Amino acid sequence: VHWTAEEKQRITNIWGKVNVADCGAEALARLLIVYPWTQRFFSSFGDLSSPGAIVNNPKVRAHGKKVLTSFGEAVKNLDNIKGTFAQLSELHCDKLHVDPETFRLLGDILVIVLAAHFAQDFSPECQAAWQKLVGAVAHALARKYH
Ligand code: HEM
Repeated sequence: VHWTAEEKQRITNIWGKVNVADCGAEALARLLIVYPWTQRFFSSFGDLSSPGAIVNNPKVRAHGKKVLTSFGEAVKNLDNIKGTFAQLSELHCDKLHVDPETFRLLGDILVIVLAAHFAQDFSPECQAAWQKLVGAVAHALARKYH
């Protein structure tokens, strides 16, 4: 993936405003609510029985923060996203057996969360840069699947 200086600027500008705990928790909770079949990967997380239960579930919140913190490594390593996620790709494939399609779903949800939080800054060009980024991350995470 190649990035123009403008794309990099649009990505880092938004990322600088992101509260990783809040946006991460919201993105994971929305994934579990909007695409309920993704709950099957989180059977150890306790009560996921309603949107309210999911939003208030401390394990969902903690894991959402962990995932978005990890996503931040992509922002810091825009020119080596594949290498950055090689190990995590193996983990999600071999150990967790997560369906790689869900990486795309989570990426799309993250774009929606950012648009909702930063409506003023989230121009179409900014959305385009972010959509490219979440696609690149999903691709990198799916790479070790076999
Ligand atoms: C664990 C990152 C997407 C399911 C993890 C961990 C990280 C991570 C850093 C912790 C690894 C460790 O403990 O060493 C990411 C990133 C994603 C992503 C960057 C995309 C941007 C997903 C999606 C799902 C998922 C979409 C499922 C729908 C899991 C599960 C665990 C995990 C089940 C183990 C949770 C536990 O029991 O603690 N992920 N993940 N991940 N991830 Fe992902």
